[in-house]
Amino acid sequence: MNETTVRKQYNQLAAIYDLRWKDYIANTLSFLKTWVEISPTDTVLDIACGTGEFERLLLTEYSGQQIVGIDISENMLAIAKLKCSAYPQVSFQTASASTLPFDSNSFDVIVSANSFHYFDQPLAALKEMRRVLKPDGKVIILDWCRDYLLCKIFDLALKVFDPAHKQCYTQNEFHSLLKDANFAVCSATKIRFGVVWGLMVATAKLKT
Ligand SMILES: C[S@@+](CC[C@H](N)C(=O)[O-])C[C@H]1O[C@@H](n2cnc3c(N)ncnc32)[C@H](O)[C@@H]1O
Repeated sequence: MNETTVRKQYNQLAAIYDLRWKDYIANTLSFLKTWVEISPTDTVLDIACGTGEFERLLLTEYSGQQIVGIDISENMLAIAKLKCSAYPQVSFQTASASTLPFDSNSFDVIVSANSFHYFDQPLAALKEMRRVLKPDGKVIILDWCRDYLLCKIFDLALKVFDPAHKQCYTQNEFHSLLKDANFAVCSATKIRFGVVWGLMVATAKLKT
């Protein structure tokens, strides 16, 4: 199963992840933080939170933010827990995006960064987000975008050489998945990082 491969890969990578991807993480997550517009009273769920960098960023702005992070890699989570150990209202759990261990209608904001292309069951993951999101909540997903040529080439190469890689989506494919999971896309954009790399972000709410 893909999740076992991804877990193994990130358990091995965890100790050097922050250093190796320092600039990429800083750029993408600071962009995401500006995009999401989280209020201090929001309860936030971060899906595939990795080493907790997004949590660390949010806490620099409001140290009382309620945040839960989930990830399938215990070693990535161990680093996240260490980083946020001074914040008792922040917690981390080992869980898959496609089976979230939370009650329905639990979160105001759900974010997921740089991870959607790993998800084995993207539609199941989106449906789980829909289930645990409060009726007036929002989901924000940032990920690689296959509309960019280099992402398209990487997607093809990674499918051959990286057993953890699942699938990059075009913006249209991504929005179709969101709609299939009964979300309405409220705002979305594509962003160029550096000269050739490209990401997309979408904010979605439950269809009324
Ligand atoms: C590139 S890292 C991104 C971490 C963090 N969101 C960031 O932007 O720095 C991808 C993360 O997704 C996690 N992941 C992959 N598939 C997952 C799944 N199905 N459920 C939960 N986490 C998953 C990996 O373990 C890894 O920590």
